[in-house]
Amino acid sequence: MARRKRPSRTSKPDPPSEPISEQNTTRNTPDDVFHLSPPKLGTIFVISTLLCSLHLYLLCFHYNVETELRSSILINAGLSFVGFFVTLKMIPVAARYVLRRNMFGFDINKRGTPQGEIKVPESLGIVVGVVFLIVAIIFQYFNFTEDSNWLVEYNAALASICFMILLGFVDDVLDVPWRVKLALPSFATLPLLMAYAGHTTIVIPKPLVGYVGLEVLDLGRIYKLYMGLLAVFCTNSINIHAGLNGLEIGQTVVTAAAILIHNVMQIGSSTDPEYHQAHAFSIYLTQPLMATSLALLAFNWYPSSVFVGDTYTVFAGMTMAVVGILGHFSETLLIFFVPQILNFVLSVPQLVGIVKCPRHRLPRFDPATGLLTGTKDGTLVNVYLRLFGPKSEKSLCIHLLVFQALACAFCFVLRYFLAGWYK
Ligand code: UD1
Ligand code: MG
Repeated sequence: MARRKRPSRTSKPDPPSEPISEQNTTRNTPDDVFHLSPPKLGTIFVISTLLCSLHLYLLCFHYNVETELRSSILINAGLSFVGFFVTLKMIPVAARYVLRRNMFGFDINKRGTPQGEIKVPESLGIVVGVVFLIVAIIFQYFNFTEDSNWLVEYNAALASICFMILLGFVDDVLDVPWRVKLALPSFATLPLLMAYAGHTTIVIPKPLVGYVGLEVLDLGRIYKLYMGLLAVFCTNSINIHAGLNGLEIGQTVVTAAAILIHNVMQIGSSTDPEYHQAHAFSIYLTQPLMATSLALLAFNWYPSSVFVGDTYTVFAGMTMAVVGILGHFSETLLIFFVPQILNFVLSVPQLVGIVKCPRHRLPRFDPATGLLTGTKDGTLVNVYLRLFGPKSEKSLCIHLLVFQALACAFCFVLRYFLAGWYK
Protein backbone atom coordinates (compact mmCIF):
# COMPACT_ATOMS: atom_id res chain seq x y z
CA MET A 1 0.00 0.00 0.00
CA ALA A 2 1.21 3.48 -0.70
CA ARG A 3 0.16 4.81 2.69
CA ARG A 4 -1.61 3.11 5.49
CA LYS A 5 -2.28 3.85 9.13
CA ARG A 6 -2.55 1.13 11.75
CA PRO A 7 -6.15 0.36 12.71
CA SER A 8 -7.19 1.53 16.14
CA ARG A 9 -7.90 -1.12 18.81
CA THR A 10 -11.53 -0.16 19.45
CA SER A 11 -14.00 -2.96 18.81
CA LYS A 12 -16.35 -0.83 16.77
CA PRO A 13 -15.12 0.69 13.51
CA ASP A 14 -14.42 4.41 13.76
CA PRO A 15 -16.16 6.79 11.42
CA PRO A 16 -13.91 7.95 8.56
CA SER A 17 -11.21 10.22 10.00
CA GLU A 18 -11.62 12.63 7.10
CA PRO A 19 -14.34 12.81 4.44
CA ILE A 20 -13.56 10.83 1.32
CA SER A 21 -13.20 13.31 -1.48
CA GLU A 22 -15.54 13.58 -4.43
CA GLN A 23 -14.08 11.18 -6.98
CA ASN A 24 -15.06 8.97 -9.88
CA THR A 25 -14.58 5.66 -8.11
CA THR A 26 -15.70 6.47 -4.59
CA ARG A 27 -17.78 9.33 -3.33
CA ASN A 28 -19.33 10.55 -0.16
CA THR A 29 -22.90 11.76 -0.12
CA PRO A 30 -23.93 14.27 2.56
CA ASP A 31 -25.17 11.44 4.82
CA ASP A 32 -21.76 9.79 4.54
CA VAL A 33 -22.97 6.87 2.48
CA PHE A 34 -20.06 5.44 0.54
CA HIS A 35 -20.47 4.35 -3.08
CA LEU A 36 -18.16 2.34 -5.25
CA SER A 37 -18.32 2.61 -9.01
CA PRO A 38 -20.41 -0.22 -10.46
CA PRO A 39 -18.68 -3.52 -11.32
CA LYS A 40 -17.53 -3.86 -14.94
CA LEU A 41 -19.86 -6.75 -15.67
CA GLY A 42 -19.60 -6.49 -19.47
CA THR A 43 -15.83 -6.99 -19.34
CA ILE A 44 -16.22 -9.87 -16.90
CA PHE A 45 -18.83 -11.51 -19.13
CA VAL A 46 -16.39 -11.45 -22.06
CA ILE A 47 -13.44 -12.68 -19.95
CA SER A 48 -15.41 -15.48 -18.30
CA THR A 49 -16.88 -16.65 -21.62
CA LEU A 50 -13.37 -16.80 -23.09
CA LEU A 51 -11.98 -18.63 -20.07
CA CYS A 52 -14.75 -21.03 -19.03
CA SER A 53 -16.46 -22.16 -22.23
CA LEU A 54 -13.82 -24.70 -23.32
CA HIS A 55 -13.73 -26.31 -19.87
CA LEU A 56 -17.52 -26.63 -19.74
CA TYR A 57 -17.74 -27.87 -23.33
CA LEU A 58 -15.13 -30.59 -22.69
CA LEU A 59 -16.88 -31.62 -19.49
CA CYS A 60 -20.46 -31.69 -20.74
CA PHE A 61 -20.13 -32.71 -24.40
CA HIS A 62 -16.70 -33.81 -25.53
CA TYR A 63 -15.65 -36.41 -22.97
CA ASN A 64 -17.74 -39.23 -21.68
CA VAL A 65 -17.32 -38.40 -17.98
CA GLU A 66 -19.21 -40.76 -15.64
CA THR A 67 -22.54 -39.30 -14.54
CA GLU A 68 -21.84 -39.12 -10.81
CA LEU A 69 -18.53 -37.33 -11.23
CA ARG A 70 -20.01 -34.92 -13.77
CA SER A 71 -22.91 -34.15 -11.40
CA SER A 72 -20.47 -33.40 -8.57
CA ILE A 73 -18.48 -31.06 -10.81
CA LEU A 74 -21.64 -29.31 -12.04
CA ILE A 75 -22.98 -28.91 -8.49
CA ASN A 76 -19.63 -27.39 -7.56
CA ALA A 77 -19.88 -25.08 -10.59
CA GLY A 78 -23.41 -24.06 -9.51
CA LEU A 79 -22.26 -23.26 -5.96
CA SER A 80 -19.31 -21.31 -7.41
CA PHE A 81 -21.76 -19.33 -9.56
CA VAL A 82 -23.71 -18.39 -6.42
CA GLY A 83 -20.34 -17.53 -4.82
CA PHE A 84 -19.71 -15.12 -7.71
CA PHE A 85 -22.85 -13.12 -6.91
CA VAL A 86 -22.27 -13.18 -3.17
CA THR A 87 -18.73 -11.83 -3.70
CA LEU A 88 -20.06 -9.19 -6.07
CA LYS A 89 -22.57 -8.02 -3.44
CA MET A 90 -20.14 -8.14 -0.52
CA ILE A 91 -17.26 -6.17 -2.06
CA PRO A 92 -18.87 -2.69 -1.81
CA VAL A 93 -19.82 -3.43 1.81
CA ALA A 94 -16.32 -4.64 2.72
CA ALA A 95 -14.76 -1.72 0.81
CA ARG A 96 -16.62 0.70 3.07
CA TYR A 97 -15.34 -1.09 6.17
CA VAL A 98 -11.68 -1.27 5.10
CA LEU A 99 -11.72 2.44 4.17
CA ARG A 100 -13.09 3.27 7.61
CA ARG A 101 -10.07 1.43 9.01
CA ASN A 102 -7.78 3.47 6.78
CA MET A 103 -6.80 0.47 4.69
CA PHE A 104 -6.35 2.03 1.28
CA GLY A 105 -3.69 2.54 -1.35
CA PHE A 106 -2.99 5.14 -4.01
CA ASP A 107 -2.88 4.04 -7.61
CA ILE A 108 0.81 4.52 -8.37
CA ASN A 109 0.41 4.18 -12.14
CA LYS A 110 -1.91 7.19 -12.17
CA ARG A 111 0.31 9.46 -10.07
CA GLY A 112 0.09 13.06 -11.24
CA THR A 113 -3.55 12.77 -12.36
CA PRO A 114 -6.71 13.29 -10.27
CA GLN A 115 -7.20 9.49 -10.24
CA GLY A 116 -3.86 9.11 -8.48
CA GLU A 117 -5.21 11.12 -5.52
CA ILE A 118 -8.09 8.75 -4.79
CA LYS A 119 -7.98 6.48 -1.75
CA VAL A 120 -8.56 3.03 -3.23
CA PRO A 121 -9.83 0.45 -0.69
CA GLU A 122 -7.19 -2.27 -0.14
CA SER A 123 -7.26 -6.01 0.74
CA LEU A 124 -10.60 -6.85 -0.85
CA GLY A 125 -9.15 -10.31 -1.44
CA ILE A 126 -10.49 -11.08 2.02
CA VAL A 127 -14.03 -11.24 0.57
CA VAL A 128 -12.91 -13.66 -2.15
CA GLY A 129 -11.10 -15.83 0.41
CA VAL A 130 -14.05 -16.04 2.78
CA VAL A 131 -16.66 -16.74 0.09
CA PHE A 132 -14.32 -19.33 -1.47
CA LEU A 133 -14.02 -21.15 1.86
CA ILE A 134 -17.79 -21.10 2.43
CA VAL A 135 -18.43 -22.53 -1.05
CA ALA A 136 -15.75 -25.19 -0.57
CA ILE A 137 -17.10 -26.21 2.84
CA ILE A 138 -20.74 -26.36 1.71
CA PHE A 139 -19.69 -28.44 -1.28
CA GLN A 140 -18.54 -31.29 0.99
CA TYR A 141 -22.22 -32.11 1.63
CA PHE A 142 -22.82 -32.62 -2.07
CA ASN A 143 -19.82 -34.71 -2.93
CA PHE A 144 -20.71 -38.32 -3.63
CA THR A 145 -17.40 -39.94 -2.66
CA GLU A 146 -17.28 -42.53 0.10
CA ASP A 147 -13.53 -42.20 0.49
CA SER A 148 -12.77 -40.91 4.01
CA ASN A 149 -9.16 -40.15 3.10
CA TRP A 150 -10.58 -37.71 0.56
CA LEU A 151 -12.27 -35.70 3.31
CA VAL A 152 -9.10 -35.60 5.41
CA GLU A 153 -7.02 -34.24 2.53
CA TYR A 154 -9.78 -31.86 1.42
CA ASN A 155 -10.08 -30.38 4.90
CA ALA A 156 -6.30 -30.17 5.28
CA ALA A 157 -6.20 -28.28 1.96
CA LEU A 158 -8.87 -25.88 3.22
CA ALA A 159 -6.99 -25.43 6.50
CA SER A 160 -3.82 -24.47 4.61
CA ILE A 161 -5.68 -22.05 2.36
CA CYS A 162 -7.51 -20.55 5.36
CA PHE A 163 -4.22 -20.15 7.26
CA MET A 164 -2.73 -18.43 4.21
CA ILE A 165 -5.67 -16.01 3.94
CA LEU A 166 -5.15 -15.13 7.60
CA LEU A 167 -1.43 -14.53 7.15
CA GLY A 168 -2.05 -12.51 3.98
CA PHE A 169 -4.53 -10.31 5.81
CA VAL A 170 -2.11 -9.90 8.73
CA ASP A 171 0.48 -8.80 6.19
CA ASP A 172 -1.92 -6.24 4.71
CA VAL A 173 -2.73 -4.81 8.14
CA LEU A 174 0.79 -4.85 9.60
CA ASP A 175 2.81 -4.45 6.38
CA VAL A 176 5.41 -7.05 7.37
CA PRO A 177 8.89 -6.87 5.79
CA TRP A 178 8.98 -8.81 2.55
CA ARG A 179 11.63 -11.28 3.75
CA VAL A 180 9.17 -12.40 6.45
CA LYS A 181 6.41 -12.36 3.85
CA LEU A 182 8.49 -14.76 1.77
CA ALA A 183 8.49 -17.36 4.56
CA LEU A 184 4.81 -17.15 5.59
CA PRO A 185 3.52 -19.75 3.09
CA SER A 186 5.81 -22.40 4.54
CA PHE A 187 3.83 -22.19 7.80
CA ALA A 188 0.50 -22.13 6.02
CA THR A 189 1.32 -25.25 4.08
CA LEU A 190 1.91 -27.33 7.28
CA PRO A 191 -1.68 -28.62 7.69
CA LEU A 192 -1.54 -30.00 4.17
CA LEU A 193 1.91 -31.54 4.55
CA MET A 194 0.92 -33.22 7.83
CA ALA A 195 -2.24 -34.75 6.38
CA TYR A 196 -0.73 -35.71 3.03
CA ALA A 197 -1.03 -39.46 2.59
CA GLY A 198 -0.53 -39.66 -1.15
CA HIS A 199 2.50 -40.98 -2.97
CA THR A 200 5.93 -39.41 -2.55
CA THR A 201 7.33 -40.75 -5.81
CA ILE A 202 8.25 -39.10 -9.06
CA VAL A 203 8.24 -40.81 -12.45
CA ILE A 204 11.64 -40.54 -14.10
CA PRO A 205 11.30 -39.25 -17.68
CA LYS A 206 11.90 -42.15 -20.08
CA PRO A 207 15.05 -40.68 -21.71
CA LEU A 208 16.68 -40.48 -18.26
CA VAL A 209 15.72 -43.96 -16.99
CA GLY A 210 18.97 -45.46 -18.40
CA TYR A 211 21.08 -42.96 -16.46
CA VAL A 212 19.16 -43.08 -13.18
CA GLY A 213 18.57 -46.84 -13.28
CA LEU A 214 15.01 -46.45 -11.95
CA GLU A 215 11.62 -45.82 -13.50
CA VAL A 216 10.07 -44.44 -10.32
CA LEU A 217 12.01 -42.63 -7.60
CA ASP A 218 10.65 -42.41 -4.05
CA LEU A 219 11.66 -39.07 -2.58
CA GLY A 220 10.10 -39.74 0.84
CA ARG A 221 10.38 -36.69 3.07
CA ILE A 222 12.13 -34.68 0.36
CA TYR A 223 8.85 -34.82 -1.56
CA LYS A 224 7.16 -32.97 1.30
CA LEU A 225 9.92 -30.36 1.24
CA TYR A 226 9.30 -29.99 -2.49
CA MET A 227 5.57 -29.47 -1.79
CA GLY A 228 6.37 -26.77 0.78
CA LEU A 229 8.73 -25.00 -1.61
CA LEU A 230 6.11 -25.12 -4.36
CA ALA A 231 3.64 -23.34 -2.07
CA VAL A 232 6.26 -20.70 -1.18
CA PHE A 233 7.01 -20.17 -4.86
CA CYS A 234 3.40 -19.99 -6.10
CA THR A 235 2.26 -17.49 -3.47
CA ASN A 236 5.23 -15.15 -3.75
CA SER A 237 5.52 -15.33 -7.51
CA ILE A 238 1.95 -14.07 -7.96
CA ASN A 239 2.49 -11.36 -5.38
CA ILE A 240 5.56 -9.96 -7.14
CA HIS A 241 4.05 -10.12 -10.66
CA ALA A 242 1.65 -7.34 -9.72
CA GLY A 243 1.01 -3.63 -9.52
CA LEU A 244 -1.08 -3.11 -12.69
CA ASN A 245 -4.86 -2.86 -12.46
CA GLY A 246 -6.25 -6.34 -13.06
CA LEU A 247 -2.92 -8.17 -13.32
CA GLU A 248 -3.02 -10.06 -10.00
CA ILE A 249 -6.48 -11.51 -10.64
CA GLY A 250 -6.02 -11.69 -14.41
CA GLN A 251 -3.03 -14.04 -14.16
CA THR A 252 -4.92 -16.15 -11.62
CA VAL A 253 -8.06 -16.61 -13.72
CA VAL A 254 -6.09 -17.38 -16.90
CA THR A 255 -4.04 -20.01 -15.05
CA ALA A 256 -7.14 -21.36 -13.30
CA ALA A 257 -8.83 -21.81 -16.69
CA ALA A 258 -5.81 -23.77 -17.93
CA ILE A 259 -5.86 -25.92 -14.78
CA LEU A 260 -9.56 -26.72 -15.32
CA ILE A 261 -9.04 -27.65 -18.96
CA HIS A 262 -6.07 -29.83 -18.02
CA ASN A 263 -8.08 -31.58 -15.27
CA VAL A 264 -11.03 -32.36 -17.54
CA MET A 265 -8.72 -33.61 -20.29
CA GLN A 266 -6.99 -35.93 -17.84
CA ILE A 267 -10.29 -37.24 -16.48
CA GLY A 268 -11.61 -37.75 -20.01
CA SER A 269 -8.57 -39.65 -21.21
CA SER A 270 -8.20 -42.09 -18.30
CA THR A 271 -10.28 -44.83 -16.72
CA ASP A 272 -8.34 -45.01 -13.44
CA PRO A 273 -10.73 -43.96 -10.60
CA GLU A 274 -7.86 -42.74 -8.41
CA TYR A 275 -6.63 -40.51 -11.21
CA HIS A 276 -10.19 -39.18 -11.69
CA GLN A 277 -10.39 -38.45 -7.97
CA ALA A 278 -7.13 -36.46 -7.97
CA HIS A 279 -8.17 -34.27 -10.90
CA ALA A 280 -11.73 -33.86 -9.64
CA PHE A 281 -10.25 -32.67 -6.35
CA SER A 282 -8.46 -29.93 -8.24
CA ILE A 283 -11.64 -28.93 -10.12
CA TYR A 284 -13.61 -28.67 -6.84
CA LEU A 285 -11.21 -25.99 -5.58
CA THR A 286 -10.37 -24.28 -8.85
CA GLN A 287 -13.98 -23.57 -9.93
CA PRO A 288 -14.79 -21.55 -6.76
CA LEU A 289 -11.39 -19.81 -7.05
CA MET A 290 -12.24 -18.82 -10.61
CA ALA A 291 -15.79 -17.62 -9.86
CA THR A 292 -15.01 -15.56 -6.76
CA SER A 293 -11.90 -14.07 -8.41
CA LEU A 294 -13.94 -12.98 -11.45
CA ALA A 295 -16.30 -11.09 -9.13
CA LEU A 296 -13.37 -9.19 -7.62
CA LEU A 297 -11.95 -8.58 -11.08
CA ALA A 298 -15.18 -6.74 -11.94
CA PHE A 299 -14.05 -4.06 -9.47
CA ASN A 300 -10.30 -4.40 -9.98
CA TRP A 301 -10.20 -4.21 -13.79
CA TYR A 302 -8.80 -0.93 -15.17
CA PRO A 303 -9.51 1.62 -13.72
CA SER A 304 -9.50 -0.23 -10.38
CA SER A 305 -12.01 0.87 -7.78
CA VAL A 306 -10.58 -1.59 -5.24
CA PHE A 307 -7.19 -3.25 -4.70
CA VAL A 308 -6.84 -6.95 -3.93
CA GLY A 309 -4.08 -6.80 -1.31
CA ASP A 310 -1.61 -9.50 -0.38
CA THR A 311 -4.59 -11.35 1.09
CA TYR A 312 -5.64 -12.16 -2.45
CA THR A 313 -2.25 -12.83 -4.06
CA VAL A 314 -1.14 -15.31 -1.39
CA PHE A 315 -4.58 -16.96 -1.25
CA ALA A 316 -4.64 -17.47 -5.04
CA GLY A 317 -1.06 -18.77 -5.12
CA MET A 318 -1.67 -21.15 -2.24
CA THR A 319 -4.88 -22.52 -3.76
CA MET A 320 -3.15 -23.26 -7.05
CA ALA A 321 -0.18 -24.87 -5.27
CA VAL A 322 -2.57 -27.05 -3.23
CA VAL A 323 -4.46 -28.27 -6.30
CA GLY A 324 -1.18 -28.92 -8.13
CA ILE A 325 0.08 -31.00 -5.21
CA LEU A 326 -3.09 -32.96 -4.49
CA GLY A 327 -3.99 -33.30 -8.15
CA HIS A 328 -0.46 -34.63 -8.82
CA PHE A 329 0.28 -32.27 -11.71
CA SER A 330 2.84 -29.92 -10.18
CA GLU A 331 5.19 -30.07 -13.22
CA THR A 332 2.34 -29.00 -15.51
CA LEU A 333 1.43 -26.24 -13.05
CA LEU A 334 4.99 -24.94 -13.19
CA ILE A 335 4.79 -24.63 -16.99
CA PHE A 336 1.54 -22.65 -16.60
CA PHE A 337 3.62 -20.42 -14.30
CA VAL A 338 6.29 -19.63 -16.94
CA PRO A 339 5.64 -15.83 -16.80
CA GLN A 340 5.90 -15.94 -13.00
CA ILE A 341 9.14 -17.96 -13.23
CA LEU A 342 10.57 -15.40 -15.68
CA ASN A 343 9.53 -12.55 -13.41
CA PHE A 344 11.08 -14.35 -10.45
CA VAL A 345 14.39 -14.95 -12.26
CA LEU A 346 14.49 -11.28 -13.32
CA SER A 347 13.77 -10.29 -9.71
CA VAL A 348 16.46 -12.42 -8.04
CA PRO A 349 19.22 -9.73 -7.99
CA GLN A 350 16.87 -7.32 -6.21
CA LEU A 351 15.31 -9.98 -3.97
CA VAL A 352 18.66 -11.23 -2.66
CA GLY A 353 19.92 -7.68 -2.21
CA ILE A 354 22.66 -7.58 -4.86
CA VAL A 355 20.81 -4.69 -6.50
CA LYS A 356 18.86 -2.11 -4.46
CA CYS A 357 15.18 -3.07 -4.15
CA PRO A 358 12.76 -0.14 -3.77
CA ARG A 359 9.38 -0.62 -2.02
CA HIS A 360 7.61 -0.58 -5.41
CA ARG A 361 9.22 -1.78 -8.62
CA LEU A 362 6.65 -0.33 -10.98
CA PRO A 363 7.08 1.37 -14.38
CA ARG A 364 7.30 5.17 -14.77
CA PHE A 365 3.99 6.86 -15.54
CA ASP A 366 3.85 9.94 -17.73
CA PRO A 367 0.69 11.91 -16.87
CA ALA A 368 0.99 13.92 -20.10
CA THR A 369 0.74 10.91 -22.44
CA GLY A 370 -0.93 8.45 -20.04
CA LEU A 371 1.70 5.86 -20.97
CA LEU A 372 3.97 3.65 -18.85
CA THR A 373 7.68 3.31 -19.59
CA GLY A 374 9.91 0.49 -18.33
CA THR A 375 12.41 1.24 -15.57
CA LYS A 376 15.61 -0.65 -14.72
CA ASP A 377 13.87 -2.64 -11.95
CA GLY A 378 13.98 -6.36 -12.73
CA THR A 379 10.37 -7.27 -13.36
CA LEU A 380 8.60 -8.78 -16.35
CA VAL A 381 6.40 -5.67 -16.51
CA ASN A 382 9.44 -3.41 -16.94
CA VAL A 383 11.29 -5.74 -19.32
CA TYR A 384 8.15 -6.07 -21.47
CA LEU A 385 7.85 -2.29 -21.70
CA ARG A 386 11.54 -1.91 -22.52
CA LEU A 387 11.25 -4.53 -25.28
CA PHE A 388 7.96 -3.44 -26.84
CA GLY A 389 7.81 0.27 -26.03
CA PRO A 390 5.56 2.41 -23.78
CA LYS A 391 1.99 1.24 -23.29
CA SER A 392 -1.11 2.31 -21.43
CA GLU A 393 -1.74 0.41 -18.19
CA LYS A 394 -4.80 -1.38 -19.57
CA SER A 395 -3.12 -2.45 -22.78
CA LEU A 396 0.00 -3.62 -20.91
CA CYS A 397 -2.15 -5.73 -18.59
CA ILE A 398 -3.96 -7.32 -21.55
CA HIS A 399 -0.61 -8.05 -23.25
CA LEU A 400 0.71 -9.76 -20.12
CA LEU A 401 -2.47 -11.80 -19.75
CA VAL A 402 -2.23 -12.92 -23.37
CA PHE A 403 1.37 -13.91 -22.65
CA GLN A 404 0.11 -15.94 -19.67
CA ALA A 405 -2.45 -17.65 -21.92
CA LEU A 406 0.28 -18.40 -24.49
CA ALA A 407 2.43 -20.01 -21.77
CA CYS A 408 -0.52 -22.23 -20.87
CA ALA A 409 -1.17 -23.08 -24.52
CA PHE A 410 2.53 -23.91 -24.92
CA CYS A 411 2.21 -26.28 -21.98
CA PHE A 412 -0.64 -28.18 -23.67
CA VAL A 413 1.35 -28.43 -26.93
CA LEU A 414 4.40 -29.64 -25.02
CA ARG A 415 2.39 -32.27 -23.17
CA TYR A 416 0.85 -33.45 -26.44
CA PHE A 417 4.21 -33.89 -28.18
CA LEU A 418 6.05 -35.31 -25.19
CA ALA A 419 3.30 -37.75 -24.17
CA GLY A 420 4.59 -41.30 -24.46
CA TRP A 421 8.15 -40.19 -25.08
CA TYR A 422 8.67 -38.25 -21.85
CA LYS A 423 6.72 -40.45 -19.43
C1 UD1 B 1 4.93 -6.28 -4.59
C2 UD1 B 1 6.21 -5.96 -5.37
C3 UD1 B 1 6.32 -4.45 -5.62
C4 UD1 B 1 5.08 -3.96 -6.35
C5 UD1 B 1 3.84 -4.33 -5.55
C6 UD1 B 1 2.58 -3.94 -6.32
C7 UD1 B 1 8.39 -7.05 -5.19
C8 UD1 B 1 9.50 -7.44 -4.29
N1 UD1 B 1 7.36 -6.40 -4.60
O1 UD1 B 1 5.10 -5.72 -3.31
O2 UD1 B 1 7.47 -4.18 -6.40
O3 UD1 B 1 5.14 -2.57 -6.54
O4 UD1 B 1 3.80 -5.75 -5.27
O5 UD1 B 1 1.46 -4.64 -5.98
O6 UD1 B 1 8.39 -7.30 -6.37
N2 UD1 B 1 -0.82 -0.83 -6.62
C9 UD1 B 1 -1.09 -0.01 -7.68
N3 UD1 B 1 -1.83 -0.49 -8.73
C10 UD1 B 1 -2.31 -1.77 -8.74
C11 UD1 B 1 -2.02 -2.62 -7.64
C12 UD1 B 1 -1.29 -2.12 -6.61
O7 UD1 B 1 -0.69 1.13 -7.69
O8 UD1 B 1 -2.95 -2.18 -9.71
C13 UD1 B 1 -0.09 -0.28 -5.48
C14 UD1 B 1 -1.06 0.43 -4.51
O9 UD1 B 1 -0.41 1.52 -3.96
C15 UD1 B 1 -1.28 -0.66 -3.48
C16 UD1 B 1 0.08 -1.31 -3.45
O10 UD1 B 1 0.54 -1.33 -4.77
O11 UD1 B 1 -1.65 -0.11 -2.24
C17 UD1 B 1 0.02 -2.73 -2.92
O12 UD1 B 1 1.32 -3.16 -2.78
P1 UD1 B 1 1.64 -4.44 -1.90
O13 UD1 B 1 0.83 -5.60 -2.36
O14 UD1 B 1 1.56 -4.10 -0.46
O15 UD1 B 1 3.16 -4.65 -2.33
P2 UD1 B 1 4.05 -5.92 -2.12
O16 UD1 B 1 3.27 -7.17 -2.30
O17 UD1 B 1 4.82 -5.79 -0.86
MG1 MG C 1 1.25 -7.50 -2.95
